[in-house]
Amino acid sequence: MKKYKLKKKVFFLGFIFLLAIGSGVFFIYKRENFKINSPINHEEPKKEEDEKQNNKPVEDHEDLKKATYYIDKYLERYLAYLNSNPDQTVDEVIRSVNVNIDYDFYTHVVASKLEDDFLILVNKYHQLDSDYAPKLVKMESRYSMVNAYMEETAYQNYKKMVDAAAKEGIKLYNVSAYRSYATQNTLYTNYKKRDGEKMADTYSARAGFSEHQTGLASDINTSSRSAHFENTKEFEWLQKNAYQYGFILRYPEGKEYLTGYVYEPWHYRYVGEEVAQYIHEHSLTYEEYYAYFIENKN
Ligand code: DAL
Ligand code: ZN
Repeated sequence: MKKYKLKKKVFFLGFIFLLAIGSGVFFIYKRENFKINSPINHEEPKKEEDEKQNNKPVEDHEDLKKATYYIDKYLERYLAYLNSNPDQTVDEVIRSVNVNIDYDFYTHVVASKLEDDFLILVNKYHQLDSDYAPKLVKMESRYSMVNAYMEETAYQNYKKMVDAAAKEGIKLYNVSAYRSYATQNTLYTNYKKRDGEKMADTYSARAGFSEHQTGLASDINTSSRSAHFENTKEFEWLQKNAYQYGFILRYPEGKEYLTGYVYEPWHYRYVGEEVAQYIHEHSLTYEEYYAYFIENKN
């Protein structure tokens, strides 16, 4: 009987031991896997502190090479761009070429990379197929003023953000989230009829080129749909807090030359907390972030 009990004990301890080893292996595997899936290597780019370097006019190649977000394979393009824009600072040349501004909008278009998941870039150079649609969920009426859908993960985080704001007395409402290719086509076509192509292109994306087709974006406003959202306390709250929930302001003021769109204080895009925090702290557009950390993996 005693022997049987001892055997049972040994068996039990062995089982616990194996379980512990198994859990350890599983944990390490998950961590490694996460590292692989995480595209982010935010080791500080070279000369972040050197504001002066970035803001001075370009004198020679070395100035470009020392710039914060310099990408070696673009050197020729930086020089060509500088040639036609001799008054630009080091910073402007680097930022512009990194995001393709040396090419006309809607030229050199490539397919948006679906495998980038919620880090996907959709802009005037990165296009979605007409039949692309993410996994969508319907937004509940307390989060959206209109009948709307959003990508699942983005929506979970969106709700967290809106709930957190509500606790501080700030009420945020979605006024437009996922838009299909067909919906965007109708919108853009109508704007073009009304304002002409050149003007429409400054505030509306052509079909296939709208971030709204990813389901990761939401146009946010107050319950009374302020015409000047940038002057509201709701906007102020988002400026301070949106990044903590993984959202970034996608078309910031002063960055129109990089995004290709006028300032949109209402348009927020889910990119995940880690990336949102980096973008927030370094005042980048998503184009710049994507060029440096994802497309060219520096
Ligand atoms: N207004 C934004 C740029 C869009 O149409 O997607
Ligand atoms: Zn929008």
